[in-house]
Amino acid sequence: MRKIDFRSDTVTKPSPGMLEAIATAELGDDVYGEDPSVNELEIKAARITGKEASLFVASGTMANLIAILAHADRGGEIIVGNKSHIFVSEAGGASALGGVSYHVVPNNSKGLFDIVDLEAAFRDDTNYHHPITSLLAFENTHNNCGGIAISPEDLNPIIDWAQEYNLPTHVDGARIFNASTRLDIPVQKLVERIDSVSFCLSKGLACPVGSMICGDEKFINKARRIRKMLGGGMRQAGILASAGIFALDNMLDRLLEDHINAAKLAQGLSDLEYIDINHKLVETNLVFFNVSNEHKEKLHLFLESHGIKGGSATGNRWRFTTHYGISSEDIDYTIEVMKEYSNVECAQSA
Ligand SMILES: Cc1ncc(COP(=O)(O)O)c(C=O)c1O
Repeated sequence: MRKIDFRSDTVTKPSPGMLEAIATAELGDDVYGEDPSVNELEIKAARITGKEASLFVASGTMANLIAILAHADRGGEIIVGNKSHIFVSEAGGASALGGVSYHVVPNNSKGLFDIVDLEAAFRDDTNYHHPITSLLAFENTHNNCGGIAISPEDLNPIIDWAQEYNLPTHVDGARIFNASTRLDIPVQKLVERIDSVSFCLSKGLACPVGSMICGDEKFINKARRIRKMLGGGMRQAGILASAGIFALDNMLDRLLEDHINAAKLAQGLSDLEYIDINHKLVETNLVFFNVSNEHKEKLHLFLESHGIKGGSATGNRWRFTTHYGISSEDIDYTIEVMKEYSNVECAQSA
């Protein structure tokens, strides 16, 4: 039986070429700055994002945490979206570990913010009752907002606003290469007006571990110290960084395939009466749809019995993610299985 795992692009396994790169990586002690593979990856990541420097870290969550702590002091506050990964899914790290509070504003349908909400969120720092507004954070692509790609045109008014207040900006670009692919705009251009960017190697780029933080030299030096403080100084980390180098050289062009597969899946799902989806909203590799209470548990079991992982027996809003390891034939198979479910279950209840 086919096995298809739609749960996340984090489930990807290294390609043979990537395994070869890992096996032959040149290594050294990165805490001494002597791992040639880590150094090469950091130069490459800085170049690709158009920033002065970059830092290799263990995960996307660690990248965002370090970036926040490098931008904001204890007693500071960051403005984040109510649907952002930083706010929803990173265990409150900035406040728990850094003494930085979250000022949450609604994410609009574009995954961005309305200026009126930002105006209301910004604190007057002459008033000593207030925490100090220290950072504005975005996400691109925006996971919870449907995996949408945010264009510079949409972002510009928000950056203009932040710059007017001298407020630093950070983008959680866990899937920034998906945004770049979708918009056909180089990552450099997407982040040129943003102070720092993090991106994940271990999602669509199919590395086993790792994320990058990119920004100016001063910021990255500070980030390096914080990484050490968090216990994230790794030694012969080139064994992981070599996968990252391979990914930046070889795995970017294929992201389009994931988007084509996602669009095909979304189109197929839109024909099923028990699925609620607006397939036109699917822009990248994340396909969100709703499954009614009546069907979610049965469908979940049915898919599992056909080798398909994804969705949940308890929630109505499901996300299927396309990635390296899922082919166009896998999408055909999934749509067939979901039609079969329809024939069995929906015919029975009709
Ligand atoms: C938008 C976004 N940011 C950050 C992360 C965190 O990445 P990690 O799982 O490597 O900590 C994720 C993970 O799914 C994500 O989707």
